[in-house]
Amino acid sequence: MAIKCIGILTSGGDAPGMNAAIRAVTRTAIYNGYKVKGIMRGYHGLVTGEIVEFKSQSVSNIIQKGGTILKTARSKEFRTEEGRRQAYENMKAEGIDALVVIGGDGSLSGAQQFAEEFDVPIVGLPGTIDNDVDGTDETIGYDTALNTIVDAVDKLRDTASSHERLFFVEVMGNTAGYLALNGAIASGAEAAIIPERETEVDQLADLIHNGFRKSKNSAIVLVAENKATGGALGLAERIKKEFPEFDARVTILGHLQRGGSPTAKDRILASKMGAMAIEALSEGQRNVMIGIKNGELVYVPFKKAIAHSQQMDLKDLDIVKILSM
Ligand code: F6P
Repeated sequence: MAIKCIGILTSGGDAPGMNAAIRAVTRTAIYNGYKVKGIMRGYHGLVTGEIVEFKSQSVSNIIQKGGTILKTARSKEFRTEEGRRQAYENMKAEGIDALVVIGGDGSLSGAQQFAEEFDVPIVGLPGTIDNDVDGTDETIGYDTALNTIVDAVDKLRDTASSHERLFFVEVMGNTAGYLALNGAIASGAEAAIIPERETEVDQLADLIHNGFRKSKNSAIVLVAENKATGGALGLAERIKKEFPEFDARVTILGHLQRGGSPTAKDRILASKMGAMAIEALSEGQRNVMIGIKNGELVYVPFKKAIAHSQQMDLKDLDIVKILSM
């Protein structure tokens, strides 16, 4: 069946650049003769029928804005078969023939299941600050979040060095350490403690025993959030007990990392991926995510995108260590 109307939604944690993607999808679709409908609050709005028609002006003046004008949610209803059936019926009632879903791995898993169950053409865009989606070198929002982390660490370093303290700075990432690792490289931090290395070594003991303060009296350690170990707070507790000679402090950057105006890099990535999503649907592609690999936009089957089989290059941890000596 020929596609006439495309629905667009953002889902899961918001990420800077989602608005740039919404703009690109909407305008490329309209340029190519499609009707566009905006679905509010992610899959939740698809289930409840919160759907509005989008014109070119609907996406004016948003490329520079963080967050998402479509709002977002983590929908419980969509996880049920009944919810997905309702979503499908609402889609049909609105005349929507295909979807563009912008979100992280959870949102793309939802897209894959919905596409399979109801035979709906869906194209996904990786939108998450975590950068934890397979088949793409970068996700929309990751670069902005990294820059936010760097700004924060630059400021913390002033007080860390004045007081000669050890700072644990907790960053987001869900279960991935990309923000911590690359945030550490970019801010010149002394170490990054990431979940990908957790089972291998005791990263805290390793850090202390390797004399990370040989040439300095202060240190900044970027810690990826981690429910199992308690993240930065968990490490600070251990310091108190096991290495009381250190005066440690904790800063949790939290949701600050999700906000702010997207960087030029994120705007460009979102714009190109958004345009490519419409090209993909026009070509008859379905159940694929748009990824970027070595600078080239590529189609990544949903199954691959959500597989979590991509290995992080742990050699980069050595770079953090060597460059901060
Ligand atoms: O996936 C994005 C993310 O910000 C993660 O880094 C974090 O673990 C999670 O979302 C926080 O979710 P919420 O906003 O629901 O607290």
